Amino acid sequence: MTVERPRILTGDTPTGKLHLGHYVGSLENRLALQDDYDCYFLIANQHALTTRADKTHDIRADTVGIVKDWLSVGIDPDRSTICLQSEIPAIVELCWYFAMLLPFNRVMRNPTLKTEIDDKGLGDTYSFGFPLYAVGQCADILAFRPELVPVGEDQVAHIEMTREAARRFNQFYCGVDPHTEDADYVKEGGLFPIPAAKIGRVGRLVGIDGKQKMSKSLNNAIFLSDTPKQVKKKINAIYPGQSREPTDPGDPDINPVFDYADAFIKDKNLIDDLRTRYRKGDNLGDGHVKAHVIDAVNELLEPIREKRAALEGPAGDAKVLEIIKDGARRANEVAEETLALAKEKMGFNFAKRELTLS
Ligand code: TRP
Repeated sequence: MTVERPRILTGDTPTGKLHLGHYVGSLENRLALQDDYDCYFLIANQHALTTRADKTHDIRADTVGIVKDWLSVGIDPDRSTICLQSEIPAIVELCWYFAMLLPFNRVMRNPTLKTEIDDKGLGDTYSFGFPLYAVGQCADILAFRPELVPVGEDQVAHIEMTREAARRFNQFYCGVDPHTEDADYVKEGGLFPIPAAKIGRVGRLVGIDGKQKMSKSLNNAIFLSDTPKQVKKKINAIYPGQSREPTDPGDPDINPVFDYADAFIKDKNLIDDLRTRYRKGDNLGDGHVKAHVIDAVNELLEPIREKRAALEGPAGDAKVLEIIKDGARRANEVAEETLALAKEKMGFNFAKRELTLS
């Protein structure tokens, strides 16, 4: 007998290449959870339209690219389901229903949306679909009725909104008492578990500007596909937060290079030693600390680069397209079931639907 494993859903928007912030914020968690959970990893290509509606072919290329990044870090399509948002129609339908359960002003107050509007300089020119994507993310998640959503810290506001949508659905259509504890919603008859965010080892990795979180749009990222030379150049360019000679006492706490040391150097004694010497001004230059960080990052990235290189070209593309097709089949089995159950709870179950993919 196969025991059903609890489900996980998480995803990335295909905006280009994944970076170290993605790795420590979420990818690493996904790898660790692949065996114990039934994992669904979603490529949110419809969300990429929020800022690039005129560039769908670029989004397509980035979609293939992101799957290659996932495979390179060790996401295993035999154990986990890699699925493409635009191939899962139940998500869009659920989005409509959840959009009716969340107050408009509640969505517009979502701090992640606000930050994105600032970071990307969207002003007031963003599309109607832009705030809608946050509701869409509730549907991405709830379509899979997962227990956990492994994400970086920046996504927590979206998960919080998802939890609100799930509670309200369960209250309106499944008769669950609003005073129910989150953990008990399903036991009390709710369709949707109230999913929890699972934050990575480093919830927010600072970018090479030393100030903001690492992000492609802020131009401060080290990509998983960067060459050893690029990694070296980028880390060497980080401002250590203070100007000092190797013999001056320094403050590692205001030096972003130490954030990278913590995130990537495996030998904790080495990090402690570097910190202590930095504080004392024990003949420890910033270049020396950076050299250790560069080695550690390159050691992490080397096998990823090798796997990525093996996926380049038409054969790699073909493999990815097969994975996407197979994943669509597996993902739709769950999402269609969720939608049918949701419509049943709402009394909207007039005809049964079979989704066929070819
Ligand atoms: N908004 C997420 C990001 O940009 C990507 C995403 C889309 C996601 N749907 C999701 C993450 C569902 C977790 C769960 O990183």
